[in-house]
Amino acid sequence: METVADKRVVVVTGSTSGIGRGVAELLLSRGWRVVINSRSDDEVGESMAAANDDMIYARGDISHPQDCAQVVEAAISAWGRIDGLVNNAGTTAYVELDDIEGVTAEVWHRVLDVNVIGTWQMISAAMPYLKAAAPGRIVNIASVAGLRPVGSSVPYSVSKVAIVHMTSILGKVLGPDVLVNAVAPGLVDTAWTAEWSAVKENVAAAAPLRRVGQPQDIAAACEYLLNTNYTTGECIAVDGGMRLVV
Ligand SMILES: NC(=O)c1ccc[n+]([C@@H]2O[C@H](COP(=O)([O-])OP(=O)(O)OC[C@H]3O[C@@H](n4cnc5c(N)ncnc54)[C@H](OP(=O)(O)O)[C@@H]3O)[C@@H](O)[C@H]2O)c1
Repeated sequence: METVADKRVVVVTGSTSGIGRGVAELLLSRGWRVVINSRSDDEVGESMAAANDDMIYARGDISHPQDCAQVVEAAISAWGRIDGLVNNAGTTAYVELDDIEGVTAEVWHRVLDVNVIGTWQMISAAMPYLKAAAPGRIVNIASVAGLRPVGSSVPYSVSKVAIVHMTSILGKVLGPDVLVNAVAPGLVDTAWTAEWSAVKENVAAAAPLRRVGQPQDIAAACEYLLNTNYTTGECIAVDGGMRLVV
């Protein structure tokens, strides 16, 4: 029988809003202890944690390595273990895909620093504990923009391709101690896409499953991958089939 000490611990980055929040809330309801995180949304993070004994909030910008170390340390000081890491925090730049001059080096650095290097820094900081969990499990949030030549800008899409490939490589080299998988959402109804009414209508009309995604759709895939015993290096698209028509 599972005791309190056996409860598994997961760190979910970027989890005061949208997909990350949906993941954190689902995992909490399934008996995980959850470290939630955001770069600046302390009020929401603290109030979510205050309402749940098995949730703590750790502020930190994943593009800063010392912040990643602090998020991991918060989990270890509270509960002494990390069994799962969901790398969800991400950012973008809105630049038309054919606007070459619009993508400056600053834009590249800003997006890659969070989406790629930040994800890597979280993996690196948590790795000793994930290995100790044997098996530890990582789920990286990619995007359909990492599977198809679409997205809010070239740097964003390239950053998500990098996440998919990082997932494959780490899946190859980290087993059997750590399983590494990814989820590639299509368009999901979050604060990020709040102003995208026209795009949402198009997706709801064109996607084989005839609606945009909800954070719970992505959370269900994350939960599956945090429990899998024989899948690694895989990226699951959760997009209502939209990648088949774009
Ligand atoms: N929504 C979609 O349609 C969609 C589709 C495909 C993929 N995705 C991916 O899903 C992930 C979440 O997107 P979302 O739509 O749920 O966004 P969201 O509602 O805007 O939530 C983003 C969360 O990430 C946090 N965050 C942002 N930058 C951070 C950083 N540097 N360090 C730590 N936390 C940070 C935010 O907190 P602060 O505001 O405090 O920074 C917030 O909690 C992203 O990786 C995105 O690329 C989204």
